Amino acid sequence: MTKFLFFSGKGGVGKTSLSCATAVMLANQGAKTLLVTTDPASNLGDVFGQEVSLDAKEVQGVANLFVQEINPHEALQSYKDRALAPLKALFPDDVVKAAEEKMNGPCTEEVATFDQFIACMHQPDYDWVIFDTAPTGHTLRLLELPSSWSLHIEESAKGSGQTCIGSVDALSASKEQYDNAIRALADPETTTFVFVTQPAQLSMDEMVRSSIELRKLSISNQVAIVNGVIPVDEREHPYSSRRWKKQEPHINELAKHFAGKIGYMPLYADEVKGIAMLKQVGRDLEDAIAL
Ligand SMILES: Nc1ncnc2c1ncn2[C@@H]1O[C@H](COP(=O)(O)OP(=O)(O)O)[C@@H](O)[C@H]1O
Ligand SMILES: [Mg+2]
Repeated sequence: MTKFLFFSGKGGVGKTSLSCATAVMLANQGAKTLLVTTDPASNLGDVFGQEVSLDAKEVQGVANLFVQEINPHEALQSYKDRALAPLKALFPDDVVKAAEEKMNGPCTEEVATFDQFIACMHQPDYDWVIFDTAPTGHTLRLLELPSSWSLHIEESAKGSGQTCIGSVDALSASKEQYDNAIRALADPETTTFVFVTQPAQLSMDEMVRSSIELRKLSISNQVAIVNGVIPVDEREHPYSSRRWKKQEPHINELAKHFAGKIGYMPLYADEVKGIAMLKQVGRDLEDAIAL
């Protein structure tokens, strides 16, 4: 059965770096692994040094690892294409155009993106599917959608076949897939949420808030990774000791407010980029937290 990992946290805290390193680690252990980014500002291609697209592509230099990108604009376009195709055969251009304009709202883009996200959860030949998610608030909103969504699809299928944004036929994921996704997300054996945070007030506050929100959605299997901690042997150094003194109280505080496992990852001298670095970070991650 496929297992899911979701990386969540504020922009810039290290989600992409740590999700990539985790993916490399699992693939190196022999698990067939898919890494999906749903971040509109994704830089997966940059991290792996190769092109990433909506079709899953094997990563050169790491056996068993595939990467895939859900781009909201492309998701919207392909959704519109599917929704409009039947109209094109029946109606004049101006009618089709009017229908297309109605689909240009942010709601449609979100639904189209989420639809691809759900479809990505249904790729049974992978042992692990890892999501490098969009920033927290956005992700949470998407997660709140499925229960009402699946109802919406059911009703629409019975009635006119119209959802708020187009016909049910334009969805690439089925109602069954939506239901499965909700179940999988709430099943601690299947899904783990990984919160990435810096040892700093803002990102930790946001993490604790998101953690509570997720628990309300019955998503309870949560772990936290504090990323960018000054390494032990650097803490006496005059420059980094000041940074460490700022980090330490936040690290102590988090342990009081977060119920799940907490792992700590060091601040590296270099950016997390390229296969060799990802393998190193992956090994550190394996020691820091068992996923
Ligand atoms: N532990 C770390 N040590 C050093 N640099 C890091 C570390 N974690 C992330 N970075 C760097 O910080 C930047 C932001 O990280 P990224 O993973 O892209 O964050 P996010 O995906 O959360 O926006 C990148 O340049 C990345 O290489
Ligand atoms: Mg990122």
